[in-house]
Amino acid sequence: MNTTKKEIYLDHASTTYVRPEVVQAMLPFFEQKFGNPSSLHRLGLEAKSAVDESRQKIASILNCKPNEIIFTGGGTESINLALKGVALLKGKGHIITSTIEHPAVLNTCAWLEKKGFSVTYLNVDDEGLISIKELEKAIQKDTILISIMYANNEIGTIEPIVEIGKIARKHKVLFHTDACQAAGALELDVNKLGVDLMTINSSKIYGPKGMGLLYKRAEIKLEPLIHGGGQEAGARSGTENVAGIVGLATALELAQKESATENKRLIQLRDYLINNTLKKIPKSFLNGHPTKRLPNNVNISFLDVEGESIMLYLNEYGVYVSTGSACSSQKLQISHVLNAIGLKHDAAHGSIRFTLGKRTTKADINYVLKVLPPIIDSLRKISPVKVKMSEIREKMGEKNENC
Ligand SMILES: Cc1ncc(COP(=O)(O)O)c(C=O)c1O
Repeated sequence: MNTTKKEIYLDHASTTYVRPEVVQAMLPFFEQKFGNPSSLHRLGLEAKSAVDESRQKIASILNCKPNEIIFTGGGTESINLALKGVALLKGKGHIITSTIEHPAVLNTCAWLEKKGFSVTYLNVDDEGLISIKELEKAIQKDTILISIMYANNEIGTIEPIVEIGKIARKHKVLFHTDACQAAGALELDVNKLGVDLMTINSSKIYGPKGMGLLYKRAEIKLEPLIHGGGQEAGARSGTENVAGIVGLATALELAQKESATENKRLIQLRDYLINNTLKKIPKSFLNGHPTKRLPNNVNISFLDVEGESIMLYLNEYGVYVSTGSACSSQKLQISHVLNAIGLKHDAAHGSIRFTLGKRTTKADINYVLKVLPPIIDSLRKISPVKVKMSEIREKMGEKNENC
């Protein structure tokens, strides 16, 4: 194979690099300002004030009070704390979520079902949107929580968060949103959004891995999952990850400042990649919503080829992408999200997610557009599968036709 030394990372939804400004902000907290924020001497107070300042910075971005932020060890932990924290304190009840949530939500719900809670999994349409009507219909007398993601990590569809919040308030049900993919690109003002709980992940916004936060409206009580010294107002015990907290606050602050210009740039590159891929490669179609989608997300299915093979070929050319979601790509099953938007097994198998980032350039996209068509072409020549564009869904709509 014709390999080159070029490396193009198009997997920013899996994780981002840590941007240099964030590294710089974190560095002093490893060797010099290494105190424990609970210690009462100078070094401890210095660490505590770094945590307090970070909390304050984040609170002004989320438009909430500093004590409504709980620092955690990432998106999965925040989600577990939100869902189990609410449910375990209530003791029983009904939860509403969707079929396209991240496994952190789906597997937590499955665990809660085993503990006696009931869960409704809302279906989505073929572009990945939940129905507000279906949501309202699903609310029961004992519904304690709605958890719907802000934006989907695989297909990039942005859910109608403000409308969901209104329904939740009308019925006095708590509303959690998983904003792991939305942070850095979309509105995070919790009052404008009308959310009660919100999960944010540092490793998707050019911050450190293993760091996240849960926003929790002050009046809400949560059963803690980790017991110990009572840090984070008792909601998450354990010595604070001071460098991580500083890193997350710096990353979020920079992302927020840059999001308007960066979103515009990414949307242009995203649409350029989508339009030219669909034009150059027959029997290909876009997954997810055409406009209500994350600025950096492109998810395209190529019929008659395996996503894994495309990914590996692209890897040889130094182009790094995902097939399905990275968290589940070790398993050879089709993504639950592509399944939920109605794709048949054969049609979902050749799906590739390209997620663009701060360092992505038009030259990178042109390189992908140059190497991808011959890869698909050669894989199709040896493929035993032949799927018609009219047969990609269980119930085929017109909008995805491209040949
Ligand atoms: C939408 C969404 N939720 C939750 C998570 C889990 O985050 P983490 O693996 O950092 O705990 C991810 C990470 O891929 C995600 O994309």
